[in-house]
Amino acid sequence: MFADSPKYRAAHFEALKEDGEAHLDGNPTFDRPLFVQFCANDPECLLEAAKHVQKYCDAVDLNLGCPQGIAKRGNYGAFLQEDWGTIHKLIRNLRDNLDIPVTAKMRVLDTRERTLEYARMILDAGASIITVHGRQRAQKGHYTGLADWSILRYLREQLPPETVMFANGNILQYGDMESCLEATGADGVMSAEGNLYDPSIFAAPPPVGEEGREYWRGKDGKGGYRADAVLRRYMDIVHQHVMGREPPQRAPLFMPSDGSAASPAVQPATNGELAKLNGHDPPEEDDEDQRPAKKQKLSTSSDDQTNGTAAILSKKAQKKSQLKHAKSQQHARPEKVTNANLIAMQAHCFHILRPLVSKHHNVRDALARCKAGDIEAYENVLTLTEEAVKEGLVAYEANPAAFDTVEDEASGHGDVADPTEVVESSDEAIKFQDTSVRHSRATRSGRR
Ligand SMILES: Cc1cc2nc3c(=O)[nH]c(=O)nc-3n(C[C@H](O)[C@H](O)[C@H](O)COP(=O)(O)O)c2cc1C
Repeated sequence: MFADSPKYRAAHFEALKEDGEAHLDGNPTFDRPLFVQFCANDPECLLEAAKHVQKYCDAVDLNLGCPQGIAKRGNYGAFLQEDWGTIHKLIRNLRDNLDIPVTAKMRVLDTRERTLEYARMILDAGASIITVHGRQRAQKGHYTGLADWSILRYLREQLPPETVMFANGNILQYGDMESCLEATGADGVMSAEGNLYDPSIFAAPPPVGEEGREYWRGKDGKGGYRADAVLRRYMDIVHQHVMGREPPQRAPLFMPSDGSAASPAVQPATNGELAKLNGHDPPEEDDEDQRPAKKQKLSTSSDDQTNGTAAILSKKAQKKSQLKHAKSQQHARPEKVTNANLIAMQAHCFHILRPLVSKHHNVRDALARCKAGDIEAYENVLTLTEEAVKEGLVAYEANPAAFDTVEDEASGHGDVADPTEVVESSDEAIKFQDTSVRHSRATRSGRR
């Protein structure tokens, strides 16, 4: 599809839009290095598709890992695993005919020896880097389980030392990266779900005493990047790179040391204010659309009146109705949002705010009401998030002992506390690490 249809290309890779506008995908100032991944089973078709993107990226990657039904039906991703001849041709054709390197992402097979042979075949075909997901094809949904880093270590030891290998699987929080590099000997790690839930996953914690306003560290030394800080950065990226405008000026994030005078309470927008911000009319108290039956009844009864006041009222109501209609025409249905970045925002924000929305239902409800492209509604979610974090910080400062947590032995990641064990804990409003903990557990118990 990518090779055949300009419309499909433009919809899935912004650099290929023909409107000449600045693009997000592959923008040399902020979106490089970039690998563009394809799934395919036809070498010529893949080459044609790859040629379209090669000017805007640093490598083309072949997806050999997708285990989903759609990949099974289309015979691509991990369902090519049994067809090494096709995989070899796909990669070799790219290597011989592209101006940029080709890489591949594979899953482990049922034995480490077979996985090694498979990796050798991919490298022989011409892949410059292999990313190895330490789960087998059947490990998905309820059967996801843990990735097997020991097979990756075996590959590292058996493959030529110059082979560049990235490890994938089980990276749920910052500290997992080091454990993974150590356990596998890989040259880098890749994280998908961990990164979705916590976009700060690759950011090192600041030194003690230099937390600033974006990082929170509790009195026990544990901490994480603040949910409000991450959401602000997210929103600023959307303003700047999706909407193409300067992000709003923002007051510094709240810190307990600011004192209450220095930090005016955040006032979430009311529905009316929000509507105004969105360019719509705020709902009026006596809006006839809101109470149609009553209004109708009123004007009918006015017909029966013989005094002038009733007639004036009726005329007023008519005029108001006409005005309203004109306005509603003016603000006719908003255009359908097609920008993939805007469409993805709600699901992404739910991932980012997952630890917070379970307690702060106002944030959850405001986010649930956000429509694609309604940036002001998302700004309101940010305001509510800032308020929730402020509340958590103030409560923590007032009584840190109430937030005492127990070591989470089940997480397998050692030093992460589990706030879910704390009654009335609100430090999930502040930091991210508990998301990772829950995830570790879910993954371990195969619930994912
Ligand atoms: C929402 C989502 C979308 C994904 N899309 C792709 C994809 O397009 N290509 C791919 O190779 N893997 C894809 N994956 C799989 C990840 O790359 C990764 O192999 C897998 O999630 C295991 O890594 P993790 O434990 O870091 O999540 C996706 C995963 C998620 C959660």
